[in-house]
Amino acid sequence: MSILITGGAGFIGSNFVLDWLGQSDERVVNLDKLTYAGNLENLASLQGDARHVFVHGDIGDFTLVSRLLAEHQPRAVVNFAAESHVDRSIHGPGEFIQTNIVSTFHLLEALRAHWGALEGEARSGFRLLHVSTDEVYGSLGAGEPAFTETHRYEPNSPYSASKAASDHLVRAYHHTYGLPVVTTNCSNNYGPYHFPEKLIPLMIVNALAGKPLPVYGDGQQVRDWLYVTDHCSAIRHVLADGRPGETYNVGGWNEKTNLEIVHTVCALLDELQPRTDGRPYREQIAYVTDRPGHDRRYAIDARKLGRELGWKPAETFETGIRKTVAWYLDHRPWVANVLSGSYRDWVKKQYGD
Ligand code: NAD
Ligand code: TYD
Repeated sequence: MSILITGGAGFIGSNFVLDWLGQSDERVVNLDKLTYAGNLENLASLQGDARHVFVHGDIGDFTLVSRLLAEHQPRAVVNFAAESHVDRSIHGPGEFIQTNIVSTFHLLEALRAHWGALEGEARSGFRLLHVSTDEVYGSLGAGEPAFTETHRYEPNSPYSASKAASDHLVRAYHHTYGLPVVTTNCSNNYGPYHFPEKLIPLMIVNALAGKPLPVYGDGQQVRDWLYVTDHCSAIRHVLADGRPGETYNVGGWNEKTNLEIVHTVCALLDELQPRTDGRPYREQIAYVTDRPGHDRRYAIDARKLGRELGWKPAETFETGIRKTVAWYLDHRPWVANVLSGSYRDWVKKQYGD
């Protein structure tokens, strides 16, 4: 048996592959385009492990995906592959439209053809799990209840709009063609292997480098935070027992303002790696121009996943953020390779251009 993972060299995908193979011997075929966000160094511990088959390629390559499905006959596909950074989507939405919408469409076409030809158990047991975000629901006011699965879609950034479009395509392939899909909409993840363009790793890396800690606007925007391995366990639950055609919200019940996050990171660094001049890291905070169209608040109601599938997160924010800061302190070479871009040289050496 095997599963096909897309985007498994990125932040959540690589955590998922490591987590999966940490508790199962079922083979993982990992299809990743290795954009700037894909880093095979995340999977270095799997080198020589026959349970992990890496394939360098695009989910939008119908021929390649069809060949992989025919060759490996995976019982399920988990689609992580996407452009994922809101700020990048504001500077250049084109790649987001291409990967998150057009390439997802090609992936769905390959899956439709493959699944359509399956029979018996292989057909009835097959699943596509599409990994999405809470950002498709838009922005909440301070007193509004958290997003449930029936909240209307109201995406505000090119990133969230492109993810919303992919969710709609996935839904339509179930409704129209019967493709057995499940979709998860998760809140902000954090943890090991997080690319340091996103809030938490950026703050850790900048603080240690003595650089400013850029807080957008007033820093009072609220996000719900989930430790990445809890997202992985939620995906395993949904893959095992989720009902085809359903969507499941995933969240950590950890609403925090951005400023609270930055203060927490600074306090942990003060404790674990104090500045040489003895001053607190929070002195490095710099308020900068706000993100255009910045969503004020996300909050996720994950009760359906708990009620129907028995999932609950293992980490609190306090335990997860401490582990995360400690991981970045213990993995300075990983950070240095990402910052210098040398992880890409390794890929070139290994795979050619
Ligand atoms: P990431 O940017 O770290 O990784 C994305 C991965 O996809 C990279 O390895 C990249 O090389 C690969 N990729 C990009 N385009 C591809 C293509 N056309 N074909 C094959 N591979 C391609 O992203 P992430 O933070 O790990 O997010 C993974 C998924 O989870 C995304 O779909 C994202 O929308 C969703 N999500 C992320 C978060 C979060 O907080 N990071 C929260 C909820 C949902
Ligand atoms: P980010 O990690 O980019 O995730 P998302 O936009 O998908 O929620 O940002 C999290 C929050 O942190 C968001 O409100 C924007 C804010 N932020 C900053 O204030 N400064 C920064 O340098 C970054 C990257 C984000």
